[in-house]
Amino acid sequence: MQTLQTCEAVRAQIRAWRTAGMRIALVPTMGNLHAGHLSLLFAARERADRVVASISVNPLQFSPGEDHTRYPRTPEEDERLLIEAHCDLLFAPSVEELYPAGGGQATRVSIRGLHDILCGQFRPGHFDGMATVVAKLFGVVAPDVAVFGEKDFQQLVVIRRMTLDLNMDIDIVGAPTVRAADGLALSSRNRYLSVEERARAPLLHGALVSAVARLDAGDNHYAAIEDDGWKALQEAQMRPDYFLIRSADDLSIPGVDVTHLVVLAAARSGSTRLIDNLRIDLR
Ligand code: PAJ
Repeated sequence: MQTLQTCEAVRAQIRAWRTAGMRIALVPTMGNLHAGHLSLLFAARERADRVVASISVNPLQFSPGEDHTRYPRTPEEDERLLIEAHCDLLFAPSVEELYPAGGGQATRVSIRGLHDILCGQFRPGHFDGMATVVAKLFGVVAPDVAVFGEKDFQQLVVIRRMTLDLNMDIDIVGAPTVRAADGLALSSRNRYLSVEERARAPLLHGALVSAVARLDAGDNHYAAIEDDGWKALQEAQMRPDYFLIRSADDLSIPGVDVTHLVVLAAARSGSTRLIDNLRIDLR
C-alpha cells in the first residue's frame, strides 16, 4: 500500500491507473478504523481494480461545541489495518492540503432540505462540512465508485443527492452496518462510553428492532411507535434527540403509500452521542 499526503501525488497515481483501464473505488474515513470501516474496503474491493482509502479528520464538519482536536487519532494502527485489508492507496492529507485557502474557503456544498433535518438539527453545519470535504475528495480521486456505511444513513442520503444534483458520475454504494455481538453499531465514538453507558448502549438498537417488528406486523401508527421508541431510550437513561420513521429514499415523512422505510434514532448517553437506524421494506 502506498501512503500519499498530497493531492498532486494522488492525481498522478490515479492517472496512471486510469491509463491502464482500471476501475477505482474510494472509501472516505476520519480514521480510528474498526471492523465497520474495513467492511467498506471489502465492498470496494468487490467493485473495483484499485481501492483508495482516505483519512482526514475534517474540521469543517464539527459543529460549534464539538471538539475536533479530541477526535481519536490512531495513524499507525490505521495503516496496519488498511494493509491487512489490501487497500492499494491511503490518501492522508493534512488539513492545509485539503483546505488551501484555510478558513478563507468561500465554497460550501449545502444540500437543501436534507442538511438541517434529523442530525442536522442538532449538529448545525455538520452536513455542509461533510458534503464539502467529500466533494473535495471526489475532485481529487475522481473515483468510479465510493462506498459509505448505512450506519450514517443521513450522510449516505446526502451524498447520493449531492452526486445527483452536481452531475457527478460516481456510483454511491451503501454498505450494511457492522455491529458488536450485543447489537451496538461499531463507532469510533463508542470508546467515550463509561462501562455503565456501554452496557446500556445496545438498548438503542433494541428500540429500533422493536419499532421495525411493529411495522413489519402491519402497525401503521407511526407516531405511537416513535413515542414508544423515545420512551425506551429514556428508560435506558439516554437523552433522545429524535426517534423517527422516515422514507428510506429521501428521509421525508412517509405517506401511506411509502413502503421503503427507515427508523432512525439519535440519543446522548453521558457526553457521547449515539446514532443508529434500521431499514424495513413493507410487504
Ligand atoms: P467516519 O465516521 O470515519 O466513517 C467513515 C465511513 O465508515 C462512513 O461511510 C461510515 O458510515 C462508515 N461506518 C462507520 N461505522 C460503521 C459501521 N459500524 N458499519 C458500517 N459502516 C460504518 O463518516 C465519516 O467518517 C465522515 O463523515 C466522512 C464521510 C469521512 C467525511 O469526512
